[in-house]
Amino acid sequence: MKSFLYRNPTRASWAEDYSFLNNDSKNQSDSESDKREGLGIKKSYLKVSNLNIHIHKAHILKNVNLEIPDKKITCIIGPSGCGKSTLLKTFNRLIDDTEGIRYDGSIFVDGYDIFDKKTEITEIRKKMGLLSQRPCPLPMSIYENIAFGCKMHGEHKKKKLNSIVEAQLKAVGLWEEVKDRLSSPASKLSIGQQQRLCLARGLAVEPEFILADEATSALDPISSKHIEELFVELKKDYAIILVTHTLRQALRIADHVVFMYLGEVIEAGPADEVFNNPKQELTRKYLEGAFS
Ligand SMILES: Nc1ncnc2c1ncn2[C@@H]1O[C@H](COP(=O)(O)OP(=O)(O)OP(=O)(O)O)[C@@H](O)[C@H]1O
Ligand SMILES: [Mg+2]
Repeated sequence: MKSFLYRNPTRASWAEDYSFLNNDSKNQSDSESDKREGLGIKKSYLKVSNLNIHIHKAHILKNVNLEIPDKKITCIIGPSGCGKSTLLKTFNRLIDDTEGIRYDGSIFVDGYDIFDKKTEITEIRKKMGLLSQRPCPLPMSIYENIAFGCKMHGEHKKKKLNSIVEAQLKAVGLWEEVKDRLSSPASKLSIGQQQRLCLARGLAVEPEFILADEATSALDPISSKHIEELFVELKKDYAIILVTHTLRQALRIADHVVFMYLGEVIEAGPADEVFNNPKQELTRKYLEGAFS
């Protein structure tokens, strides 16, 4: 198995590193960067502006304003029912499937409002790789689990698919474990292996963001640590947004933290600042364990 060096993010570097909004950090094609320069918007940029979500009569997300940095791990924390999953599901418009949903406000992804009628939902979902709480491999082989999405997006050359499958399985440290049984059903893998497979499947269609909702909570401690290490490794190339119940996990891997309470974003900022010197009393109380 490929071993990943566990690189705990150096929190002290955040202060100088927090200029992400104007950083030209992602390799952009010239035309893309030209197109966005006028807007001051860079690639893999996500900005939530005055977002409100109602489900039937309930006001679930309340005037959320937020910016998500590229190539960082953002952890969304807060007590149960505060709206973490709803916010995450809104980013890839999975929320649209909810009965009685109404939303207003904007979510800009790379400068385009995902609620704009002209925005293709399939394009948004391609940009947003989603990892759910429980691994949900497709009922097919290990190989096909990775190749499937690429085929859906028009890639049918066997040689190219082979190399994508190998590269993505290597990226999640699964290649050595499965290379001799690529045609066996994905369901035969352990739960931890299945979660890494699902991550590889998401990466194969080249997303810009990785969204994960409690992605380690169903895993054993070793698999969980493995997925955490992968996130730390993958942030070199992606903006990663994790919903987590586990404060300790956020402390270990977050670069940026969003604290939510009763549908509102109470505080957001560099992990160092939020954890060590929260601006809001409510954040401090939550971090002290006064409520959960
Ligand atoms: N389909 C739905 N219909 C009605 N209310 C909903 C629906 N989905 C979510 N809610 C409500 O929206 C609020 C936010 O739910 P959400 O699942 O986003 O919370 P969460 O922060 O992810 O909680 P947890 O930590 O328990 O997963 C809750 O009060 C929940 O009951
Ligand atoms: Mg949730």
